[in-house]
Amino acid sequence: MRISDVASIVKYDTIMLGETLGDETIKSHLENSDLMKYLIMEDKDTKEVIGQISLWIDEDKAQINNFYILKKFQRMHLGKAFLEYVLKYLDSIGVKEITLEVRSTNEPAIKLYESFQFKAVTIRKNYYSNGDNAYLMYVSIGSE
Ligand SMILES: CC(C)(COP(=O)(O)OP(=O)(O)OC[C@H]1O[C@@H](n2cnc3c(N)ncnc32)[C@H](O)[C@@H]1OP(=O)(O)O)[C@@H](O)C(=O)NCCC(=O)NCCS
Repeated sequence: MRISDVASIVKYDTIMLGETLGDETIKSHLENSDLMKYLIMEDKDTKEVIGQISLWIDEDKAQINNFYILKKFQRMHLGKAFLEYVLKYLDSIGVKEITLEVRSTNEPAIKLYESFQFKAVTIRKNYYSNGDNAYLMYVSIGSE
């Protein structure tokens, strides 16, 4: 993600996730943080944003913080392609273990994560502000 993408990501975070870390925090992560990474999937020709993944990476461990494909691009296997790209990237930099939290009712995302061998390892009760539970999902990648 480029600094020039931050304003649109703040807008899309709000639409897709109902919340955002905000302009200043994301800019500061892009400029100063070695741990936080933001990746955008965009149309090669028009540069239109298709989706976003943000990651926290600490040596051989990573966490997927945010992940979405904009509504009009969903169900075209773009989320699958994006996640596959990100898992290959994480493998290439030596990450071995990946975690994420997902709303236990979010069947599309859970199915997608399970197709990449993520497993729900813990349930976090009342994790979201509306009382929904979260699954902590985990996958181990790469060769031993
Ligand atoms: C989850 C999300 C990223 C999936 O992106 P997508 O590009 O639409 O997904 P894909 O087209 O790549 O689908 C891949 C697989 O995921 C599952 N899936 C995706 N959308 C689904 C849906 N609406 N219902 C059921 N399964 C679904 C299917 O197993 C699908 O494979 P199939 O089409 O061969 O059956 C997208 O729905 C999204 O942005 N949701 C809102 C934000 C969100 O919930 N993010 C995850 C937070 S942890």
